[in-house]
Amino acid sequence: MTVQDVDIRLSTEKSEQNPQDGPRKQLRHFEKHLNLNVRGLPVSATLGINEQSNLLRGMGRDIFKLGLGQSPFPVPAPVVEELQANAHQKDYLPVRGLPALQEAVCGYYQRTQGLDFQPKHIMVGPGSKELMFILQLSYYGDLVIPTPSWVSYAPQAHIIGRHVHWLPTSRDNNWLMTPQELEKLCSNDPSKPRIVILNYPNNPTGCSYT
Ligand SMILES: Cc1ncc(COP(=O)(O)O)c(C=O)c1O
Repeated sequence: MTVQDVDIRLSTEKSEQNPQDGPRKQLRHFEKHLNLNVRGLPVSATLGINEQSNLLRGMGRDIFKLGLGQSPFPVPAPVVEELQANAHQKDYLPVRGLPALQEAVCGYYQRTQGLDFQPKHIMVGPGSKELMFILQLSYYGDLVIPTPSWVSYAPQAHIIGRHVHWLPTSRDNNWLMTPQELEKLCSNDPSKPRIVILNYPNNPTGCSYT
């Protein structure tokens, strides 16, 4: 749907409505056209707590933020300088990312973890949240998520209409999903595709798979 479609739809709907209707009622009228998987979705827990803590901080309360994992450090000066120097560049870039960046990413994984990727294996995106969403859109399969885990995987699956299986973890297994549990889950229907999300170090436990 384009912005123009929205404008047209809003103006048609407005004309069907009582001109006395306030903006809130008009908005509710428009919301009924929302995809049912999106309708009623609550605000993301991390964004919600961030807004709440900003509000409290604004009221003069001392707040220690443990919501968003945003770096508290300033952007390094060389990065700011490079961004400024390249601000004039406006052309569309290769959709999978700049070749030089893809090569640099491969070099990093080779140097730090001995992993042998080729630039064509690397896809650069505007953030991991969007990339994870695209991944879920591109592949079939129920989503398997250890719990506790980061807050956005399940709502993304919900938007796409995917089934989510939670695999609880505990202090006894160091908050990690075990192969046995995964095996048990998959034995229900071995041919069914599944997407397993392993995030390490895990947010929020900080534990890592080896
Ligand atoms: C585990 C995890 N994945 C993804 C994200 C979102 O990352 P991005 O800002 O790159 O979309 C976060 C943000 O805190 C996160 O903790």
